[in-house]
Amino acid sequence: MGIDTREHKYYATSASPYEKLQVLEPEDKPFSPADRIRAMTAPLLSWYDSHARILPWREQPQPYRVWISEIMLQQTRVEAVKPYFNRFMEELPDVRALAQVEEERLLKLWEGLGYYNRARNLKKAAQVMTEKYGGCPPDSFEELKKLPGIGSYTAGAIASIAYNIPVPAVDGNVLRVISRVLASQEDILKQSVKRKMEEYLKEAMPKDRASAFNQGLIETGAIVCVPNGEPKCRECPLASVCLGRKQGLLDTIPYKAPKKPRKVEERTVLLLEAEDRIALEKRPDKGLLASLYQFPNVEGSLTKDDVRKALTLKGAEVEHIQPAGKAKHIFSHVEWHMTGYRVSLKNFPAGQYLFVQRQELKEKYPVPNAFSAYIKLINGES
Ligand code: ADE
Repeated sequence: MGIDTREHKYYATSASPYEKLQVLEPEDKPFSPADRIRAMTAPLLSWYDSHARILPWREQPQPYRVWISEIMLQQTRVEAVKPYFNRFMEELPDVRALAQVEEERLLKLWEGLGYYNRARNLKKAAQVMTEKYGGCPPDSFEELKKLPGIGSYTAGAIASIAYNIPVPAVDGNVLRVISRVLASQEDILKQSVKRKMEEYLKEAMPKDRASAFNQGLIETGAIVCVPNGEPKCRECPLASVCLGRKQGLLDTIPYKAPKKPRKVEERTVLLLEAEDRIALEKRPDKGLLASLYQFPNVEGSLTKDDVRKALTLKGAEVEHIQPAGKAKHIFSHVEWHMTGYRVSLKNFPAGQYLFVQRQELKEKYPVPNAFSAYIKLINGES
């Protein structure tokens, strides 16, 4: 039998600068994992009520805004998401606008966030929402999960944050917090580990405060039980129930089984310039960075002489070639190690590339972050 925290003793701890409600763990009867998760609820909610950051999607948690923010937050940090989110909402304020946007414009709005299929799935899901759900994300965890790009985390986040439906939303932040609280040294990348946590959380979640409960966990993971560096246990509302802390295991939890090393690909990137324009080409419509624009590039790390020999420019003459430095970009399964050259041309080659102005490069064509070092260079920013 689990302990019902509502009947249990609470006290305000003086060990922390925050007023929090903590549940006492009986000396003679240690908490089971389910008890421990239940014991987190009161201090977590009390902390979240007074410490939640003010964020644009939190202030106005309409389903569309919650959905877009959650997909963006899977890509990068809160601070980096804010300008993307605000720009996106300005240009595509609702599901219908997103359903109708041109793909290239959508990719431009997403430029720099990475995993561009996430943006494409947003549009696909918006089309379904328009046709089937009256232009709004559905108010059901199961229906949300059927939509393109929406898995159990995102469905849980939209359902709980926008509709206060009591379902868990377990992302990397929550996996870290819960595995530490439970002192679990199991691999957090395993589906079975995540599912077990979802069960505990679903059972412990107060049915009328699903939004605050899930966001409280995410927030604790983001700003207290941080992913890099020392966890800030002195500020943590869960410190007194945290078994990982008690057992001195915070350095080794969360545990992730080692992944196989990424493949390294050497590439030579060519910044072909003529009359103040720069050459772009469109990537194939399948595979890595599908349909995005890039600077022409070839396999291998070429020398300046190799570049001169390798260039086949229809009818254009090379004025000079200058090294443009090395850059590295890490994708999930592959790393690009790039060697750049700036190549000035006396005239445009016939029909081979798209020669665009700098302004168009900035505003129109979506170019992935992998090339950002070279974009900075040609814009004189590095
Ligand atoms: N990271 C993922 N989801 C989040 C949210 N709703 N608020 C803050 N950080 C998050």
